[in-house]
Amino acid sequence: MTALQKDQSSGMDGHRSVLAFLNDAESEHACRQCLAELNLTAAEVRRGSVDDAIAHLAANRSPNTLIVDISGAELPLSAINRLAEVCEPNVELIAVGDRNDVALYRDLTHAGVTDYLVKPVPLPILRSTLTSGSRVPTDRGSKKQGKLIVVAGARGGVGTSTLAANISWILSHRSSRRVALLDLDLYNGDCALLLGAEPTTGLRDALETPDRVDSLFVERTMTRCGDNLFVMNSETRLDATLDFNPEAIDPLLNILRAQFHYVVVDLPRSLQRIHHRVIAPANVRIIVADLTLRALRDTVRLLSHFGPDSETARSIVVINRRGEHAGAEIPLEEFSKTARNTPRHIIPFDPKAMINAANMGKPVAGSRGRVSGALAALAADIGGQAAERIKWSPLRLFK
Ligand SMILES: Nc1ncnc2c1ncn2[C@@H]1O[C@H](COP(=O)(O)OP(=O)(O)OP(=O)(O)O)[C@@H](O)[C@H]1O
Ligand SMILES: [Mg+2]
Repeated sequence: MTALQKDQSSGMDGHRSVLAFLNDAESEHACRQCLAELNLTAAEVRRGSVDDAIAHLAANRSPNTLIVDISGAELPLSAINRLAEVCEPNVELIAVGDRNDVALYRDLTHAGVTDYLVKPVPLPILRSTLTSGSRVPTDRGSKKQGKLIVVAGARGGVGTSTLAANISWILSHRSSRRVALLDLDLYNGDCALLLGAEPTTGLRDALETPDRVDSLFVERTMTRCGDNLFVMNSETRLDATLDFNPEAIDPLLNILRAQFHYVVVDLPRSLQRIHHRVIAPANVRIIVADLTLRALRDTVRLLSHFGPDSETARSIVVINRRGEHAGAEIPLEEFSKTARNTPRHIIPFDPKAMINAANMGKPVAGSRGRVSGALAALAADIGGQAAERIKWSPLRLFK
């Protein structure tokens, strides 16, 4: 069994393992022949361009390996970047083109392409790429992972779960980004409820039996809360003792980060070893606080625990429930000075909006208002996108 075939057998339902978009009959024929020789049954070759591939992937799950034809594309590099936007993080991308150009080859591999084959498609090279992976080490291609975002509260009840659920919801409704929301509040988690889904015991099962965790397990245990939004949680009885090794979170995180563009983690108030294992590799660490002394104190502690920002990780302080204790709140400037960190986002206290959303069984981000506007700005910041680029379309959001 080749590495690829093995991968296929562990693939998720409906997950086509090799998909090719080629725009001439000769390449199409060569690719078919190669796939048949390798006996890859979960494979499909289509006549089409890189734009056809983009349109397809924006609406469908990604294959394990994608072959795209960039000949004819006016700006091949930007086409590949647009393609990378819609592909799931772990996709192996093979580009086929008609330009024998070293600079293009280098740019493409730098952009995450595993291999670039010049037409006529060289069968032995395609065969070896499909069976053993890349000929070239790439910067992003071989170890692309979804962005890991942890959300921690500087005190209980400050709105940590509300923010985690709502930013997940917004990110998943932005183009076709796939989002996994992991509720690591194992006893009192309510992320599923916040998104109108039934809590399950899936996360607990994953932690207690890490050997069983593979793509299929993840697919079966996550609850779908929208086209691209999936939640994993654990409803644990308060008198139950959880019996797992903190390292058990690692295989689960690896699978989630390979298959989702964003993995958002709701952290409970008190952090245990398992939570620190998730915080360590996080790309974005959100600290939710309000303008109280208790929250300020723990914001300082959390910031120091998270450490300084780096190229791959940054901390964002968010003030939630602003205005709840009007007149008694610490002034924002004082908060920033003491925390040595200026909160990047301020979310107003708006119990009415929260109650209305809860009554409708929908996240507050789905209705217009000051809270949802601030949440959209936060989601845009996390996604590295200007807030105004998030398309507002309630009809689409609620379909
Ligand atoms: N901006 C806001 N305005 C008004 N109410 C809010 C706001 N944000 C959150 N809430 C409300 O605050 C309450 C606590 O929110 P949430 O459960 O998200 O907090 P938490 O920090 O996760 O709490 P816990 O420590 O119990 O996990 C909820 O009733 C929620 O609707
Ligand atoms: Mg919570």
